[in-house]
Amino acid sequence: MLGKIKDSAAYISRFLEGEKYRIGIILGTGLGELGKSIEIKHTIPYAGIPHFPVSTVQGHKGNLLIGKFGGKNVIAMQGRFHFYEGYPMQEVTFPIRVLHELGVKYLFVSNAAGGVNTQFLVGDLMIITDHINLFPEHPLRGKNIDELGPRFPGMTDAYSPRIIRLAEECGKKLGIPLQHGVYAGLQGPSFETPAEYNWIRVIGGDAVGMSTVPEIIVARHMGMECFGMSVITNSTASPELIKTNHTEVQDIGNTAQPRMTALFREIIAELKES
Ligand code: 6GU
Repeated sequence: MLGKIKDSAAYISRFLEGEKYRIGIILGTGLGELGKSIEIKHTIPYAGIPHFPVSTVQGHKGNLLIGKFGGKNVIAMQGRFHFYEGYPMQEVTFPIRVLHELGVKYLFVSNAAGGVNTQFLVGDLMIITDHINLFPEHPLRGKNIDELGPRFPGMTDAYSPRIIRLAEECGKKLGIPLQHGVYAGLQGPSFETPAEYNWIRVIGGDAVGMSTVPEIIVARHMGMECFGMSVITNSTASPELIKTNHTEVQDIGNTAQPRMTALFREIIAELKES
């Protein structure tokens, strides 16, 4: 795998023109528009990157955007790879390995998620404070690659407390209300039954989705500092509201884009590289 990571990184690094890129961003379902606010220098289709998987799901683009956002150099993934699409976990998380190889130290992740916490409203933005890994396979399963990280990486503070504090300050400054909560990551692709929503609530989940957890685990394996945000695209509080569909998830994602974009820009502008 190391060879493939280095191959991909070598291909991408030609577009970085010798500049340092410390910040990576993953744009989730219906949140790809943040890409339009990036001063793009290069758009690299995934299809052209050696060893990169190719995105298949509707509403997900497959490009790496190289440019400036919030005054800083960023590499943004416009479209991610989901386990439910059939990719092995190594492929789902491969781009994170490549970002790290390119010198990225901070990973910003966004997603669309179902609100399990009954206080949440559709359209709310939630700072991910922690996660529960409910995927059936672990992204670090198999022989550990010691060059990348330890066999048994810790997962406390997986979501950087100092970036969470910064996000809270930025939210206040911009007048953008923010929820906080635990993201439960499941494989999908079916949405949950009412009984499953109750179960997630009981075990401590506030939001539920089909991404993010594998990416964060792999980023933390390599010591990257992570920040995650969910857009609550549907409420699971009442049976009427849990008839979730993908179009609705994308539509609500769209209404939240300007707020998420403003917030991410401010956090990245204010981020002190440690
Ligand atoms: Cl309700 N469930 C899951 N698993 N993923 C989602 C969602 C719900 N809403 C958006 N993404």
